[in-house]
Amino acid sequence: MSEVLREKIKQKKAKIGIIGLGYVGLPLAIEFARKGYPVHGIDNDAAKIKLIQQKKNYIKDVINKDFLYAINNHFFTASSNYDKISDQEIIFICVPTPVTENKSPDISFIMNSAEEVFKRVKKHSLIILKSTTFPGTTEDFVQPLFESKGWKAGKDFYLSFSPERVDPGNKIYNTGNTPIVVGGVSKKCSELSVLIMQEVATKVHMVSSPRVAEMEKLLENIFRSVNIALVNEMARLCDRMGKINIWEVIEAASTKPFGFMPFYPGPGIGGHCIQIDPYYLDWAAKQYDFHTKFIELAAESNEEMPFYVKDMVMKDLANLPIKAANANVLVLGTTFKRDVEDHRNSPAIKVIELLYKEGITNINFHDPYMRTIRLMDKIFRVQELNEKLLRDADITVIVTDHTSYDYEWIVDFSKRVIDTRNATKKIKNNREKISLLGACTYKVT
Ligand SMILES: NC(=O)c1ccc[n+]([C@@H]2O[C@H](COP(=O)([O-])OP(=O)(O)OC[C@H]3O[C@@H](n4cnc5c(N)ncnc54)[C@H](O)[C@@H]3O)[C@@H](O)[C@H]2O)c1
Repeated sequence: MSEVLREKIKQKKAKIGIIGLGYVGLPLAIEFARKGYPVHGIDNDAAKIKLIQQKKNYIKDVINKDFLYAINNHFFTASSNYDKISDQEIIFICVPTPVTENKSPDISFIMNSAEEVFKRVKKHSLIILKSTTFPGTTEDFVQPLFESKGWKAGKDFYLSFSPERVDPGNKIYNTGNTPIVVGGVSKKCSELSVLIMQEVATKVHMVSSPRVAEMEKLLENIFRSVNIALVNEMARLCDRMGKINIWEVIEAASTKPFGFMPFYPGPGIGGHCIQIDPYYLDWAAKQYDFHTKFIELAAESNEEMPFYVKDMVMKDLANLPIKAANANVLVLGTTFKRDVEDHRNSPAIKVIELLYKEGITNINFHDPYMRTIRLMDKIFRVQELNEKLLRDADITVIVTDHTSYDYEWIVDFSKRVIDTRNATKKIKNNREKISLLGACTYKVT
């Protein structure tokens, strides 16, 4: 029966279901629709479905022309109703995989959506899990659920894990030009998955099992987490030693054409991947009495960075002839990274929370992608970025370095600036009023 699905894939007749239409699911849905496949997306967030039905694109990286093409030509529809699953042959699961309060994996979103699919899916369908998760999720949790029907994976249904590599805000790499990894629970599962993924990726790399694919994704993200932690530690050391600018050090090290890859210090990491994934692996390792001490240390160290930035602000404020509690602090850039609208686990929001807890109540923020920030009992509303806002602030803290900001203008009108991203690197004249993370220029005039 896999031959039937194979033929349908080749003829672009395979009906595709995408569960979870967020940063991963929507670009994937549009990519398949663009290639001419009939795609139906399912999301339990009614607001997202309404936007799609109103033809409003809510993911910046999805090209509007492609989005409208897919909808106007009826290649892409969306609803909150799982009943369409009974009509679909290939189902992608792209739901969140957060951690609980005590940093354990929460795969309830995967299991809830898998249960809905399980109730409706027809025999010989292909299910591909894309949510990042710990090794064993596909084979030990999802597969047994479907086999409880009396079906056998690889014979009555096909199941794979294929990690997502989308990098929101990346101007070069997108769903279409980034190689994809696939690991099926059987050879047939892998082959079918490769066939469909080849439709949207230039290169598909097959591995021997879903476990390998799940681990591969964690390696990618933990590689970043560990290297960011390393460079953050060196940045803090440069601050302590003085007279060494970490940014200059990285620039110099980057001239080595082999064996070095630059990572940059910053106020902490956010988003839904690098900050969370080390905890997924750590939890899985503990099931085997293995402690990923090094990886855990890196994750914890990265979580310390917003505290470090808060301390920088408090130290600067201590030099002023005003009480810290009366200070006016302006935070620029509050999404989790440059030029994206995603603010999940944003270090900027953590910095604001920490300053607020220090008793600084007069905190303003600006971000081109955010309107409000809710923290404890307070709602912070975005301010218009103008000369008065900059002049009124005792300290301007650049936390997320959006490219739309005019940093020269920001420095000109700010009393003093704490730059956590080296966004002001090209500005020479006003150096004395900039404190730069990792650059020991802790001079405030
Ligand atoms: N965002 C990224 O850059 C990125 C990159 C690689 C991998 N990932 C991984 O991909 C997965 C999804 O991430 P995301 O950023 O797209 O998340 P997201 O929050 O942007 O999107 C997930 C969507 O799933 C929907 N959803 C949740 N439960 C559902 C259910 N039971 N039925 C239907 N819809 C449901 C939510 O409403 C939401 O719209 C996560 O595991 C994440 O770690 C994300």
